[in-house]
Amino acid sequence: MLQLNDFSSRLIAWQRIHGRHDLPWQNTRDAYCIWLSEIMLQQTQVSTVIPYYARFLERFPTVTALADAPIDDVMALWAGLGYYSRARNLHRCAQVVAYEHCGAFPQTVDELAELPGIGRSTAAAVASFAFGARATILDGNVKRVLARAFGVKGFPGEKKIESAMWKLAESLLPDAANKDEVTAYTQGLMDLGATLCVRGKPDCVRCPFASDCVANVEGRQRALPAARPKKVVPTRKTWMLVLRDGDSILLEKRPPTGIWSGLWSLPEAADESALAAVAHSFGGDARLQRLTPFSYTFTHFKLDIEPRLGETTGAPRELNDAQTVWAPLARIDAYGVPAPVRKLLDALTGSLI
Ligand code: ADE
Repeated sequence: MLQLNDFSSRLIAWQRIHGRHDLPWQNTRDAYCIWLSEIMLQQTQVSTVIPYYARFLERFPTVTALADAPIDDVMALWAGLGYYSRARNLHRCAQVVAYEHCGAFPQTVDELAELPGIGRSTAAAVASFAFGARATILDGNVKRVLARAFGVKGFPGEKKIESAMWKLAESLLPDAANKDEVTAYTQGLMDLGATLCVRGKPDCVRCPFASDCVANVEGRQRALPAARPKKVVPTRKTWMLVLRDGDSILLEKRPPTGIWSGLWSLPEAADESALAAVAHSFGGDARLQRLTPFSYTFTHFKLDIEPRLGETTGAPRELNDAQTVWAPLARIDAYGVPAPVRKLLDALTGSLI
């Protein structure tokens, strides 16, 4: 197990030699520049951000210049970076800073976190880089580093695990005595996560924590951090009728609400004998042939489908409502049929016509 009091000093020592020192938003304590970079870096890689960052600063050299710009200009300059709510929040945040804080970013994490588009971790990054504040960051990269180094169990996106990780991250912070140390520590966490402790193939050989990182020692780099748990969804079962009359089959319009609403699908029933009754009511033989069952997973449940094939005997029942139709198998395309039903029909088509 890593010695907690050792973590920050080892990380700082590593950062000073192996970390990144020449990114365009480093080597400054200008809160506007740092804030701008942190917002851009929230969901975007460093290499993509660099040219955008330069263009923004050239066009909007101060927070007030950004605040006074038309939103359309901001959006146009942001185009290509994605996650456009960031650009709208960026503009709103600049206006709040320019007009409610006299153009100066507040210095505490709590005040920064009140501003549009700034969450707890971004607030801490700005406070740490701009003001040397002893503030804890915890973004996706940092969660990965901590989960691996300390063998944190559970999915970090889960509330309980996330708050335990905030506590762990807070306990690891170096003393506040030296502002440059706090900055190097915060940058070191980011650099380790971005350059060595990467998601796919971490470069453990070069990591300062290799000898006692839980994931490395136990060979569990792939298992940590734990993946988002698969949602367990309830299962429902339905019987579906492929009722054939020559080259046509019976389709039924789904109700206007619920799954597959408004699409054309096969008649359904809650069990085999109810399905036989449905077949009979449309002029079908009560004896149905079993087809291969299959499943389809919706967001909220899994549907197990038991398809049955039936034939009409004699003349098929005249259909006199708009909710049912004898659809020629060769023209199923003309109907909006749910994908899994379509697959079933396509598989059958070869053998039926
Ligand atoms: N990702 C988020 N903030 C960053 C920063 N300041 N430097 C590099 N990558 C980052």
